[in-house]
Amino acid sequence: MFITFEGVEGSGKTTQTGLLKDFLLERGYKVTLTREPGWGAVGKLIRRMLLEERDLELDPLAELCLFCADRVQHVRDFIKPKLEQGEIVICDRFNDSTLVYQGYGRKLDLDLVKKLAKSSALGLEPQLTILLNLPVKLGLSRLKKRSGKTKMDEEPVEFHERIRQAYVFIAQKEPGRIRVVNAAGDIKEIQEEIRSIVLECLSK
Ligand SMILES: Nc1ncnc2c1ncn2[C@@H]1O[C@H](COP(=O)(O)OP(=O)(O)OP(=O)(O)O)[C@@H](O)[C@H]1O
Ligand SMILES: [Mg+2]
Repeated sequence: MFITFEGVEGSGKTTQTGLLKDFLLERGYKVTLTREPGWGAVGKLIRRMLLEERDLELDPLAELCLFCADRVQHVRDFIKPKLEQGEIVICDRFNDSTLVYQGYGRKLDLDLVKKLAKSSALGLEPQLTILLNLPVKLGLSRLKKRSGKTKMDEEPVEFHERIRQAYVFIAQKEPGRIRVVNAAGDIKEIQEEIRSIVLECLSK
């Protein structure tokens, strides 16, 4: 089973995917936790660029191509083989991030972004996507406490607002796959809700 997590910066994706992985491992499942961007050689380059090359003004189209290039390798060389081995793969961000950030955030041509986001997944679709829904300001204030800011963290609040609204919009269009979880509460309570959604999905 392939599960993805989405949400604005600081919404708790890394926190909640880690807890979910531990929970599923305890239940005897084989689980792999991965993230985008950042897997493999292409991903590591992108992460380093986002974190370290503060002066580089990356064109939105170049950004789109980079994220998609990363995904193609990630899906082909890592996610698909793990799924074929019967593992549960949890991915911290996947192609909904491309649609939302490059399409609605950077305002690139939506049809082009949709096409590339879909193509880069090589036919793979998450069975379940957890959208951690959180007011933008709350997410950004959580991140202030953390080091290692990225270019995206420094975007104006309006950019992140567009991201949040776009996530809610795409979730409404695909309620079967995308489950919206209120991410404003306590870490444990949010995790409980996620676990029940995942267990329900696993029992199907
Ligand atoms: N429910 C919560 N309540 C309060 N703080 C939280 C909650 N969930 C996560 N945090 C804290 O907020 C910060 C951001 O969380 P986390 O790194 O999990 O978010 P993220 O969605 O992975 O962010 P990014 O998009 O930057 O990767 C962390 O310091 C984390 O400990
Ligand atoms: Mg994270």
